[in-house]
Amino acid sequence: RMVKNAINIADLRSIAKLRAHKMVFDYLDAGADDEISLRRGKDAYSELEMHYHVLSGLQPPLDLSTKVFGCDVKLPFFACPTAGNRMFHTEGETAAAKAAEHHGTLYGLSSLATTGIPEIGEICKGPKVFQLYVWKDRELVKDVLQKAKEGGFDALALTVDFTWYGNRERDIRNGFTIPPNYTPKQVWEAIKAPAWSWDFLANPAYNYACINTEVPADSLAAFVNSQINPAFDWKDAEWLLGEWGGPSAIKGVVRPDDAVLAKETGFSTMWVSNHGARQLETSPATIDVLPSIREAVGPDTEIILDGGVQRGTDIAKALALGADAVGVGKPYLYGLAAGGSDGVIKALEILRVELDRAMGLLGTGTVDDLKKRGPGLIKRRGA
Ligand code: FNR
Repeated sequence: RMVKNAINIADLRSIAKLRAHKMVFDYLDAGADDEISLRRGKDAYSELEMHYHVLSGLQPPLDLSTKVFGCDVKLPFFACPTAGNRMFHTEGETAAAKAAEHHGTLYGLSSLATTGIPEIGEICKGPKVFQLYVWKDRELVKDVLQKAKEGGFDALALTVDFTWYGNRERDIRNGFTIPPNYTPKQVWEAIKAPAWSWDFLANPAYNYACINTEVPADSLAAFVNSQINPAFDWKDAEWLLGEWGGPSAIKGVVRPDDAVLAKETGFSTMWVSNHGARQLETSPATIDVLPSIREAVGPDTEIILDGGVQRGTDIAKALALGADAVGVGKPYLYGLAAGGSDGVIKALEILRVELDRAMGLLGTGTVDDLKKRGPGLIKRRGA
């Protein structure tokens, strides 16, 4: 009921905060260190103004459809790969994948998902991208790629901004572990979140099923630090692309020169991201670096942008400034933590309606039109 009444993403965040265990909500919500990039990532959109055209004669409905990774999608935004979804709500990744399919958009599955690749392949027949970390174990990587192919995944995204685990101080303070430890503080937080606790105790989400079911996820940071290869380089990336042989994104670029290198290495898509401001503190707001990356790779290379998007107007700005598609992480996870698959459907619906309205008022009837005329429609405040 509460989810139904949410009118924006901030409302879903408030409901998620009420329902989820504090440690889980903070894991979802937090950025690295002092959360400067987290704040700036969002604030950067408010510095950009919409210089709209009037009397453009647009006849609704507008057309929000486009292509990502060569697949037809009904929306130019989608659900980013995010870890451990079953800790937010039992329905976990399943809920997000179903919601993506419901809206006819792309779904991103994390290699730290708590739902298996075949299961997602079974329930989500629409376009989907599989996200990979720079794992140490090449045999494990080959095995996972094979599973992703068999599961019908259309594209691979290699996340390159995660060679060290980011410093999430809220997690450290909360003593974040999955399953929760039974200190008086954690038990008290669990009592304050009865719906979440009931759900979690009935369906414990202990394992990262996607990459290796044997690994208990008691400390995500320790797990990642033991499994990730920080020395992974462009040569290793080339090897990986050879193993995959399909559409591929490099997720986590924030510099034009890296984007050019990535293109030369063979990545077909540049995914401009700073991991939702959870990794390197004071990394730039992605919307601020987007135009220079578009310029560096030229008009024909696909660009995805994510980070700090909370409104349809944010999505419109990203499309106008050079993105072909826009990813959202926290917005749909707030929906998931607030109310399972209904919550994710609601989150994407809120953004769809907001984007539709923004495009209408801007005077752009299609995603292509917005992309073509975009740079002339957006100006930095005061400039
Ligand atoms: C993430 N992100 C992420 N990225 C990735 O490549 N693999 C992963 O497992 C995760 N896990 C993850 C968990 C949580 C809780 C969050 C919030 C984010 C990053 C994600 O894909 C995306 O880049 C950001 O979430 C985008 O920023 P916003 O939309 O959250 O501001």
